[in-house]
Amino acid sequence: MSPIIFSHISEADKNYSRTYTLPMNLKSELKLPCGMLLLNRIAKSAMSENMAEEGHYPGLHYTNLYRRWAMGGVGLCITGNVMIDHRHLGEPCNVVLENDLHLEHFKSWAQTTEGTAMSLWPQLNHPGKQTPKFLTSEPVAPSAIPLGPKMRAFFAPPRALMEKEIEEIINRFANSAKLAQEAGFQGVQIHGAHGYLVSQFLSPKHNQRQDKWGGPLENRMRFLIEIYKSMRLKVGASFPIGVKINSADFQKGGFSHEDAISVCQKISKLGMDLIEISGGSYEKPVMTGQRQSTLKREAYFLQYASDIKKVIECPLMVTGGFRTQKIMEEVINSGEADLIGLARPLAIEPNLPYRLLSDSDVASKVHPITTGIKFVDGLFPLEITWYTRQLHLMGKNLEPKMNANAWNAIYHTLKEMGVTGLRRASARSN
Ligand SMILES: Cc1cc2nc3c(=O)[nH]c(=O)nc-3n(C[C@H](O)[C@H](O)[C@H](O)COP(=O)(O)O)c2cc1C
Repeated sequence: MSPIIFSHISEADKNYSRTYTLPMNLKSELKLPCGMLLLNRIAKSAMSENMAEEGHYPGLHYTNLYRRWAMGGVGLCITGNVMIDHRHLGEPCNVVLENDLHLEHFKSWAQTTEGTAMSLWPQLNHPGKQTPKFLTSEPVAPSAIPLGPKMRAFFAPPRALMEKEIEEIINRFANSAKLAQEAGFQGVQIHGAHGYLVSQFLSPKHNQRQDKWGGPLENRMRFLIEIYKSMRLKVGASFPIGVKINSADFQKGGFSHEDAISVCQKISKLGMDLIEISGGSYEKPVMTGQRQSTLKREAYFLQYASDIKKVIECPLMVTGGFRTQKIMEEVINSGEADLIGLARPLAIEPNLPYRLLSDSDVASKVHPITTGIKFVDGLFPLEITWYTRQLHLMGKNLEPKMNANAWNAIYHTLKEMGVTGLRRASARSN
């Protein structure tokens, strides 16, 4: 393995410089600013499992699934989004980490890494207005701006958060990070991408507040910065904190690439350990490749990521579209990014990292998911549904079904989530 030395410049501002021993490859270790060593350059990016037990805690299905990934050789594994408040869910069966009521179950989840190279970090999230109507009738957001017209049948218009509530949410993020540390996870990631609450604050389209939380970018990034600072106070200097952030929202008047560069520069100076680059939101779901220009190349956000890489002081992970070992190795070797994020490839092949690290000329077997009817494909978040089904299979200790029919995934999701989701939603409203 090629060692990477991070030479410490200034203890006070956590400013790091990197001296790389070339050539780097997927097998190289990576040292984070907090001192943690990741054992290779392959990371599993977050995939919402949506299979929590009734009390929104992770049960046996989670330990089964994560043990598969742990045994598959991945160096870093970011969990699917873990909510910081049970009143604000993105999906009916999300895991929630807001108190120590079910900490034993979180401990079992964290222990899935034992004896393996995997470092496991929960992704902490608040959905803001991206929460379906049947889960939250009054979502919250920086400003009372609804999602676009096509989304309104499914998502209720939000109300603007009061300042006191913003501070409460910041405390919740910090509290959840502390609980994750107590449970034995090796780090946490703030979900600052894909149109959820942190991303809503960053966007000038969705955040039109007139107070210190809105307006110029300096104010719009305050929410993320305060979350980071209060987490850091609770978990200490040696516990990794990362963030997933959009390279851009790809929406007119939204969070721009220039905004993303400035935010990343600022948070890396503050001591962030890892920045993961993605893009898009429910309104513009480019994170899974639905953008003509991004389809041309394997790594959807690589160009954006390399612009960001030039101005930051912490390691950078880029996620979206990676399929071949050749491109992954090229990106790591060139230093354009420090970690390769993989999501869908690991939902069908949990041991792909092992193959990438030990064989040559390896490619993921990911293929487009379609019902064959364009109209139906457009109606449903088909990719998400199909891949979630694969996670559920592995949660039951079954093998993923690489050639599963798209209709089958729709049927199972409606059967599992429809009934469970409705039951939980009605329980909450009682
Ligand atoms: C089933 C599924 C669930 C996802 N859930 C999350 C999530 O909870 N948080 C997140 O940041 N991204 C989520 N994503 C997006 C992935 O992390 C990733 O950014 C995207 O799939 C592109 O990477 P890929 O081309 O390697 O799949 C999800 C993607 C899929 C397919």
